[in-house]
Amino acid sequence: MTAEIRQARPSSPGKSGKPSSGSRSDTSAKGAPSPQSPGLSSAAKIAQVIGDLPPMPHIATQVLDKLADEDANPREINALITKDPALAARVLKVANSPMYGASRSIATLNDALMFMGFDSISSLIMTAVLKGMYSKVGLAEKLLWEHSVGCGLASRKIADAIRYRRKEEAYLAGLMHDVGKTALFLHAPDAMGEILESVYNDESDFFGAEERRFGFNHAMVGGAIATNWRFTAEIEEAIANHHQPELNSSTNELIPIVSAANAVCHKLGVGPIRKPDLDMDRIKSFKVLGLDADRIEEILAEVREALQSEPGGL
Ligand SMILES: [Fe+2]
Ligand SMILES: [Fe+2]
Repeated sequence: MTAEIRQARPSSPGKSGKPSSGSRSDTSAKGAPSPQSPGLSSAAKIAQVIGDLPPMPHIATQVLDKLADEDANPREINALITKDPALAARVLKVANSPMYGASRSIATLNDALMFMGFDSISSLIMTAVLKGMYSKVGLAEKLLWEHSVGCGLASRKIADAIRYRRKEEAYLAGLMHDVGKTALFLHAPDAMGEILESVYNDESDFFGAEERRFGFNHAMVGGAIATNWRFTAEIEEAIANHHQPELNSSTNELIPIVSAANAVCHKLGVGPIRKPDLDMDRIKSFKVLGLDADRIEEILAEVREALQSEPGGL
């Protein structure tokens, strides 16, 4: 767990980091803003549309801090999670999903904590937190949620293929890579609904349409949320660069892992973007990771099989 989330986390995550302090403009609530104030910085433009970035739920913050504590025991973690019954219910549901591969049904939170290692518990909680955010998105919920879980699973498979040691961190980065899109849907639902429709009809892509509409894109918003939620620098970079991995010259392998996982989901049609004709040989991130055509085919097959467990039903 300590590898995934930074240990020191502010007590009020929503009040720290960037960009979190701008006041929401009147136009943002209904979400039909046109490209805003060209002179403003990206952070200011994001604040104009989104206002305060969504904070990580308070209980989840406490649980993750507790998990980072070497002396923590399952009883204390159980007591914290049960303070938030909705989160507790979601954690239990995710723990019982095929994605976690439990060989028997997990009846109680305590069972989940005993059955799983602390590393898995942190990604389990983040899955439950993200699911909670999606429950407010409405019609787009199913597609976006499937895409997030699919990208988490694909990132874990790719991490496995290249023997990347921190597989749960890869899952988390993939799971959260489009969290900026979620925040935009929550704060500018009309504008994002129109963008979703044009993407679904193959008329545009989110990244370009958001740039034109807002003057920034969901990867930038996601990077800002990752900062606020105190994710590691590697996860933050992977989220912020998942559409332009070539622009980051660091050796952080999570960037090509998440970018390649995103392409896998597009190829398999997991989420609102469906590109069955996508030529995987042309995805640079696979080359960077040293994965050849045969291995990419295997990864596609593995992800397709894993997704047959209907992640959208979590
Ligand atoms: Fe994206
Ligand atoms: Fe994506």
